[in-house]
Amino acid sequence: MTAPSKPAPLRIGLAGLGTVGIGVVKIVQRHADLIAARAGRPVVITAVSARDPQKNRDADLSDYPWETDPVALAQRADIDVFVEVMGGHEGPARLATEAAIASGKDVVTANKALLAHHGHALAMAAEAQGRVIRFEAAVAGGIPVIKTLTEGLAGNQITRVMGVMNGTCNYILTRMQSSGLPYETVFEEARQLGYLEADPNLDVGGIDAGHKLSLLAAIAFGTKVSFDKVELEGIGNVSIEDITLADDMGYHIKLLGVAQMTGRGLEQRMTPCLVPAESPLGQLQGGTNMVVLEGDSVGQIVMRGAGAGEGPTASAVMADVIDIARGTRLSTFGRPASSLADPVAAKSATPAPYYLRMTLLDKPGALAKIATALGEAGISIDQMRQLNQPDAADNKATVLIVTHKAQPADVAFALDQFGPTGVLIGAPVAIRIEQV
Ligand code: NAP
Ligand code: HSE
Repeated sequence: MTAPSKPAPLRIGLAGLGTVGIGVVKIVQRHADLIAARAGRPVVITAVSARDPQKNRDADLSDYPWETDPVALAQRADIDVFVEVMGGHEGPARLATEAAIASGKDVVTANKALLAHHGHALAMAAEAQGRVIRFEAAVAGGIPVIKTLTEGLAGNQITRVMGVMNGTCNYILTRMQSSGLPYETVFEEARQLGYLEADPNLDVGGIDAGHKLSLLAAIAFGTKVSFDKVELEGIGNVSIEDITLADDMGYHIKLLGVAQMTGRGLEQRMTPCLVPAESPLGQLQGGTNMVVLEGDSVGQIVMRGAGAGEGPTASAVMADVIDIARGTRLSTFGRPASSLADPVAAKSATPAPYYLRMTLLDKPGALAKIATALGEAGISIDQMRQLNQPDAADNKATVLIVTHKAQPADVAFALDQFGPTGVLIGAPVAIRIEQV
């Protein structure tokens, strides 16, 4: 009698040995038996690649052949899955991913920038080759949001996807709130702590979070990834004054992503918003991420966890690798790439209440002029407050207004009318209040 043959291992080519790559090495080494038991076959690293072979890294890599060129690694005949954790939406990450697909490899990536820019083309190429691309780690790090949306909620019409998906921005905003320190000081703290991307604008400009939102929207609404249609605004203009005043009114300011399909088209925005302080999103502190998914049958699901870091991100990469080892084959965006629709971007966002802050000349009739400008723009006032001035002698008054639901274009029009009233000092601030 012949012994039953051992299942063939799943062989990984690992490109990138930074924070995420080393996390992957550690899980593969630490949990070899657990993974083999769960996947029904061993998962092994066959070869690795990074820029500097001399760099001291926090893991034993001595068993792994080194490839200088990630494209050569992607094309090796002795790998089954190419794990791309280098980063960047062009250059080696794109070339090697394309090479992996062309040479018949499945791909697991943590690279949201790559997929936000080239996701549809890569998905088409992979499906033409009968290959899969998985990217759990690319959105909200350790939170299994791609799996939840693609599999767990597959029977739902998704109505809305929301989230705080950039930990660095949430750290900066919550630290400003707890310390009373201004943006510039806390930004510098975040830099010292190593929280910022090499290009900080990816974080504070909302780009990284916008990439993530565009990937979730593609799955949720069956559309081609359309990062270029995400309305983006970073946190650089969020002032400590607005954070404090919003807090007094029961709101916290978050860099919030919202994607929803409306009768007017697909809305995708990643912008600073006021959210109720007591809501799960309002309560989110520090570098943590939160994703809120809404489906017609399931209602609302809230997922919270680490959006970055070695362990959480590698955990998500390994979930995808183990799925492939098990034989689970899913389309990149939850349906065949050829069936993804061209998204029609909504020309205007869903109406919402707005928080307005402005400084006015403290003289008779000043507020009336502002109220008239709002009225002429079709905007109704819900609450209005003039803040007490410690020294009223300067003839200035800070005024806060919360509007009823208003069209963003009407708010912009009204703000343009404030200047000609002759009572406005400086620029007014308008921040959307999101119903979460
Ligand atoms: P990282 O620490 O900067 O590491 C990047 C790795 O890629 C390094 O090992 C680097 O080599 C290698 N690399 C860069 N350019 C290369 C090239 N041209 N050829 C070969 N190797 C190259 O980055 P990371 O934080 O691990 O992030 C990797 C990916 O995961 C990115 O797409 C990122 O957006 C995504 N991600 C990261 C996190 C996180 O918490 N860090 C969370 C979610 C998603 P050397 O080491 O030799 O320089
Ligand atoms: N810069 C990102 C963040 C890392 O702060 O959330 C994970 O994508």
